[in-house]
Amino acid sequence: TFPAQRTLTRRARLSHYRGGMSRIAVVPGSFDPVTLGHLDVIERAAKTFDEVHVLVVHNPGKTALLPIAQRVSLIEQAVADARLVGNIRVTSWSMGLLVDYCTEVGASVIVKGIRSQVDVAYETPMAIVNRDLAAVETIFMLPNPAHAHVSSSLVRQVAALGGDVAPYVPRAVSDFLQAPRE
Ligand code: PNS
Repeated sequence: TFPAQRTLTRRARLSHYRGGMSRIAVVPGSFDPVTLGHLDVIERAAKTFDEVHVLVVHNPGKTALLPIAQRVSLIEQAVADARLVGNIRVTSWSMGLLVDYCTEVGASVIVKGIRSQVDVAYETPMAIVNRDLAAVETIFMLPNPAHAHVSSSLVRQVAALGGDVAPYVPRAVSDFLQAPRE
């Protein structure tokens, strides 16, 4: 048995049993902006892995609403407001491939939320390519079905047309999007 067992947190014990290696998962996305669906997946990942890196990555196929630094800041506020466990780090990556970030921080797993078969079809080629590129596995997690219809693109559209996005996003995001602009 491990001598200092009682004084360690459960997470530290688990990582010790695995030979000191903590399991890091990356939750990547555009997060433009972060939604309640994203937050649900981030929380599930944080309960499953020792450490979770929420990574804002540029998606070359999408036109952005918010600057990357703003997206990072909104995720940080949402994670803090939701009082999620302390093993979540929020950052961004613009230096190239997502798997390069994973390799750099020693993450062997990417976590993605799956709302429907459409998401499976969209995510599968990326997951296979990421595995080919750097042996990084992708794990699909099922968010609460209450969020199944929520997407960042829908939130962007509703916000742009003056609708209320509060039911779909963390408080920090709705406050930010609905704040009066000059
Ligand atoms: O939230 P999204 O837009 O569906 O996330 C897609 C994202 C940003 C994770 C994906 O576009 C991505 O991984 N971009 C980084 C570039 C890269 O590594 N491409 C090859 C992997 S398929």
